[in-house]
Amino acid sequence: MSTLIKKSLKNENPIWLMRQAGRYLPEYQKVRKKQKDFIKFCLNTDAATKVTLQPIKRYNLDAAIIFSDILIIPYALGQEVKFKESAGPILGKPNLKQFQQIKIKNFIKKIENVYKIIKKTRKKLNKEKSLIGFAGSPWTILVYVLNRKSPKKINIYEKIIKNNQSKQFLKIIEKFIFIHIEQQIKAGADTIQLFDSWAGLLKKKDLNYFCFQPTKRIITKIKNKYPHIPIICFPKGIKESIREFCSIVKPNVLSIDSKINPNFILKKINPNIIIQGGMDPVFLFKKKSQMQKKIKFYLNKFKNRAYIFNLGHGVPKETSPSTIQNLVNTVRNFK
Ligand code: CP3
Repeated sequence: MSTLIKKSLKNENPIWLMRQAGRYLPEYQKVRKKQKDFIKFCLNTDAATKVTLQPIKRYNLDAAIIFSDILIIPYALGQEVKFKESAGPILGKPNLKQFQQIKIKNFIKKIENVYKIIKKTRKKLNKEKSLIGFAGSPWTILVYVLNRKSPKKINIYEKIIKNNQSKQFLKIIEKFIFIHIEQQIKAGADTIQLFDSWAGLLKKKDLNYFCFQPTKRIITKIKNKYPHIPIICFPKGIKESIREFCSIVKPNVLSIDSKINPNFILKKINPNIIIQGGMDPVFLFKKKSQMQKKIKFYLNKFKNRAYIFNLGHGVPKETSPSTIQNLVNTVRNFK
């Protein structure tokens, strides 16, 4: 069983952090400097394995998350994906025909290094640690494919929901997310996280079609074929609709953002669902005592429930590595 799950069921408060491998770490910056192109970096087996393991070496976290990006899927479908410094991702024009014609074996071939990185990491990683594979959720990938950069709230409906090809794009994206996840499981990922970072942009009436149902279909397929693999869902920003999300999608683990009230979770979410995360990353920039208080708040709230410590979103690049050490110590020393 995945260590994350095993420890959480024993109330041992396992911990890992979204974006734990990243720019706040000087050892990451050192590797990053030598890599001009971010996608090539993600596909460089030595470099990506190295940075995947960096936060485990430094903090002895319970899980490694493979160093990659959710935009590797549009890349593998033939869309241009570039990362400009401080501008975030910029994508080329998507081509529906091209997406529809892509062969599964060519898709896999184009990003086979991701799977090699998983194999290589698994060999080097202590077997007591979990190895998390991941993908973007269909909606969040669709947002990037059609919007071609990180979205602002304005215009999203015009550009995406009302785009007459959006449903066809969604269908193909859903298919390849499953394929990508399956390959990661075959390569040795023992846990999967689906990032739906932009779920909160959807109006309530569109959540079912664009978020709940496609995610549910992917999860059902994974559960049927790989029942031992736990799936973590992170539908960010959907507030109390998270309840409906859970009853439809049935994730093994629900990762919550900082806007979700833990009391709501305790009252309304099926106790069989393990909870992960919650703490707002802004607490990483407050006084040590304030941060520790917030950490203990979450640990106390979920004391009687299987809980995986994490943040409500990724570690910001301005974070001091010593703050993360302090956070890890606080979680480890909690009684
Ligand atoms: O969590 C980890 O440590 C594993 C690696 C990982 C990255 N991206 C590496 C990365 C994971 C799990 C992601 C997921 C991801 N990527 C999401 C979902 C989570 C979230 O943050 O909401 C999204 C929306 C993306 C798309 C993306 N990738 C953006 C918007 C950006 C640029 C802005 C930013 O936040 O940095 C990236 C680039 C990126 N992905 C970096 C890293 C370490 C920074 C690139 C650099 O080193 O210059």
